[in-house]
Amino acid sequence: MPGERMRIGVLCSGRGSNLQAILDASRDPAYPAEVAVVISDNPRAYALDRARARAVPAEVIIPASFPDRIQHDLAVAQRLKEYGVGLVALAGYMRIVSPQFIRRFPGRVMNIHPALLPSFPGLHAQKQAVLYGVKVSGVTVHFVDEGVDTGPIILQVPVAVAEEDTEESLSARILEHEHRAYPEAIRLFAEGRIRAEGRRVWIRRS
Ligand code: GRF
Repeated sequence: MPGERMRIGVLCSGRGSNLQAILDASRDPAYPAEVAVVISDNPRAYALDRARARAVPAEVIIPASFPDRIQHDLAVAQRLKEYGVGLVALAGYMRIVSPQFIRRFPGRVMNIHPALLPSFPGLHAQKQAVLYGVKVSGVTVHFVDEGVDTGPIILQVPVAVAEEDTEESLSARILEHEHRAYPEAIRLFAEGRIRAEGRRVWIRRS
């Protein structure tokens, strides 16, 4: 029997295709992590259905129910703690998490971004890449720090940009790579192979 798996909490606001990739990866009993809970700020997020379809607890914590952003974040953090998560994975979570949230999970919050950071941070990264005219964009999985898409980089996957690409076509191609990269980064983390030293991240491959 494989040992105990790392429990992860996934925060989503929408479609949840990266969540689905993580859920699919964790179907393999040899995968070292499992989704303990999915939390959304959006009651209509399709991600919630994806979680429930796998009998994973899916909860909604609505920002408008709290006096401010920090109180909302603290409620989310509290719930994640109650589920005993060892890693928080942001997957299409359309909120910037506060320093107060991050401090509750030091070195244990990851995000996936659809560009090669530090290029094209923030929203609509694929559109930014097409408009800028880069020939290569891609995927970044990184630890979350107090900036927007600025944390230490764990994995990057380059994706060629074709001359005829649109935001939609590039997004679709990048997304396929996201669905491999995020489960892989989580696997490396859960296996204890990732070590961050300041900005630099070291991965033990063997
Ligand atoms: C992905 O492109 C991810 O990189 C970005 O938001 C999108 C979420 O998609 N942060 P999904 O909800 O996982 O399908």
